Amino acid sequence: MACPMTINVINENATADADQDGDQLTEGPGLLYSEYLHLDKILSAQNPLSTIYKDVVHDEHLFIITHQAYELWFKQIIYELDSIRGLFNTEGLDESRTLEILKRLNRIVLILKLLVDQVMILETMTPLDFMAFRDYLCPASGFQSLQFRLLENKLGVQQEHRVKFNQSYTRVFGRDPRAIEAICRAEGEPSLSFLVQQWLARTPGLETDDFDFWGKYKKAVDRMLADQEVVVENETKEQTKKHLTASLASRRAVFDTIFNESLHNALVSRGERRFSHAALQGAVMITLYRDEPRFSQPHQILTALMDIDSLITKWRYNHVIMVQRMIGSQQLGTGGSSGYHYLKSTLSDRYKVFLDLFNLSTFLIPRQLIPPLTKKMKTKLSVAWGSWGEEDEHNNSESSVEVSM
Ligand code: HEM
Repeated sequence: MACPMTINVINENATADADQDGDQLTEGPGLLYSEYLHLDKILSAQNPLSTIYKDVVHDEHLFIITHQAYELWFKQIIYELDSIRGLFNTEGLDESRTLEILKRLNRIVLILKLLVDQVMILETMTPLDFMAFRDYLCPASGFQSLQFRLLENKLGVQQEHRVKFNQSYTRVFGRDPRAIEAICRAEGEPSLSFLVQQWLARTPGLETDDFDFWGKYKKAVDRMLADQEVVVENETKEQTKKHLTASLASRRAVFDTIFNESLHNALVSRGERRFSHAALQGAVMITLYRDEPRFSQPHQILTALMDIDSLITKWRYNHVIMVQRMIGSQQLGTGGSSGYHYLKSTLSDRYKVFLDLFNLSTFLIPRQLIPPLTKKMKTKLSVAWGSWGEEDEHNNSESSVEVSM
């Protein structure tokens, strides 16, 4: 007797097969897969120089594909970034669109994760294999990646924060007026960092004639420091007391830099801080009250912005490690820089656009000291709706920032 289970499986397979009886549609007016994706262009764009010079190096194919894949993903990131900048228009963010912003930022985060990991695939090429075709490339270099520069500019990397060799990065596009034009446009447009700062400065609750978050927060910080002073005074061990005294003095000095606007601005002009004073206040407020419904998505936006900064730093790090593995630390780059040493210098905080968000942890205070919300403020933050800074107006348009490509 046949097993009933087997009969079921046979019948299911028969149904599945029957489901596949349809005709394959290739005739008619529509586009086919390869036509829609222009695969003729994409798949014929791999022309290894070692093949052209009749000195075939197998791994050059991987080298080309990897760079092309990066450029395609850069294009998608820029596309998302332009749309996000359009949603963060300078007149006020329509809060019904924050979820859309968050979705697109998170998409950028996922793409960047992929780009960080993708370095590993190229590392399957050995330095000896790379050496076999490297000379053919000169002077081609990722340093000439227009999309990478646009991405940096659109995020908000400032010219004065770039390391010295990188400050003249536009020179490599001298032969290409359209590239220069795209870069100038991207430098002149409101960057994501600028737009985020404008939005943060309008955080509900910062108004001094209403909830006055900053005034209340300063009182809470003064209380926290006073409590810590008592602990220091009561310390009996001399060495510990000395350490605690120094630590308290340094904390006071750090808090002074956010309460005293001119000290804050001095740090901004030294490149140690990026955000305007008002934007910093908004970021602190959202971080402390992130559990209130209206601040939940803004808090997630701030987290995604940090993720973007940290993933780009991780990409820079993985890239520099790969460069050292491929060409060592003493050879110049094909683009003319010192190679490894130049790239290593770009790993610093200079390129972190949202640096201040990372440093917010310095300004956290214990939960029990967070100023309680007034009833009015609690109500205001209980609804995730309205226009940030303009309570009654509801603008549902996706104003677009001009796209620089
Ligand atoms: C064997 C693999 C690679 C080597 C040896 C290498 C080497 C270098 C070197 C030496 C530089 C410094 C500029 C110069 O003088 O040329 C550089 C910059 C750069 N490379 Fe690569 N690279 C490799 C793979 C990649 C890949 C896969 C990408 C992906 C797009 C890439 C993107 C870039 C970018 C964007 C820069 C500019 C970075 C900046 O100025 O901050 N590189 N590369």
